Amino acid sequence: MATYKIAVLGGDGIGREVTPQAQKILEVVGKATGASFEFEPALIGGAAIDATGEPLPEATLRLCEQSDAILFGAVGGPKWDDAPQERRPERGLLGLRKELDLFANLRPATCFPMLVDASPLKRSVVEGTDLMVIRELTGGLYFGEPRGREEFADGGARAINTMTYSSREIERVARAAFDVAMKRRKRLTSVDKANVLIVSQLWREVVTRVAKDYPEVQLDHVLVDNCAMALVQKPTQFDTIVTENTFGDILSDEAAILAGSMGMLPSASLGGKVGLYEPVHGTAPDIAGKGIANPIAAILSAGMLLRYSLDRGADAARVDAAVLRVLEQGYRTRDVHEEGMRLVGTGEMGDLIANEVRRSY
Ligand code: IPM
Ligand code: MN
Repeated sequence: MATYKIAVLGGDGIGREVTPQAQKILEVVGKATGASFEFEPALIGGAAIDATGEPLPEATLRLCEQSDAILFGAVGGPKWDDAPQERRPERGLLGLRKELDLFANLRPATCFPMLVDASPLKRSVVEGTDLMVIRELTGGLYFGEPRGREEFADGGARAINTMTYSSREIERVARAAFDVAMKRRKRLTSVDKANVLIVSQLWREVVTRVAKDYPEVQLDHVLVDNCAMALVQKPTQFDTIVTENTFGDILSDEAAILAGSMGMLPSASLGGKVGLYEPVHGTAPDIAGKGIANPIAAILSAGMLLRYSLDRGADAARVDAAVLRVLEQGYRTRDVHEEGMRLVGTGEMGDLIANEVRRSY
């Protein structure tokens, strides 16, 4: 029977609360199928800074490299807000993405029918939304050189970040996006700012070239400002979206609202040898420690882990279906709660979904 080693990096804030729920789901899958999951916890982010002085300790990186997949929570929080860039919790996550070469970040945004009214947007707008943002994750402004800050004698200063992309970096994420689009509705929207940025012109050129290898996919190029508008105006026109790092960071948060709540959005970071699976929502310091966070994004991320890293699509489908069934039964965490629904906490939601997964076998 298969044995899988999973690195568990809960991190900070609600990351530490939702990750155990995702782990619980994988344990149920293991029990039901005979597959054996070995979970290895490790420090990352603020928790790692407090314990070791480093946001990404060497031991954590080594563990991740030797694992079959990484279950990730979230990093950051007010406690570390004043730290210099290189010593912030976020560096831990950015370092992992870079070290493990996780250049393709898949962020699906689906509006589940029973959550249509949980979105602050109108039913007529969000109903039927089912899209996938593919965000380039190891290039662009986040990592470009030169970067830095210089202080002037007169008290002023200058700070620099650089948006750079090589054709190779664009091509590999474009191929990943076309591959995903082929398994969906075969429509790909490439988002850039080619009317202003030289980098975007190269982006457009390379994506157009790669498209020749995917004649069945219908490719469109859209400017990022226009895409931001279209996402809240008519999200159902989108299928698969591919874009560079910073644009993808912004657009995927916007897309989260189409799914009702940030608490619903899973993600997979792929490309290198080991995939990383992470809810998109972040640490949510305002609700951390209260046991009220929505574990569904983390649980759906565990589903993506089964699908993309372990090639267990049938088990992943059971996890997705279990989430839907629990929502259908009217259970809601606070972020998506409406009148007449049954309000539950993080652990209870995790248990309900785990039970449904168990029953499905
Ligand atoms: C995300 C987050 C990260 C990012 C932060 C925590 C570094 O916002 O995964 O979207 O900006 O990529
Ligand atoms: Mn973000």
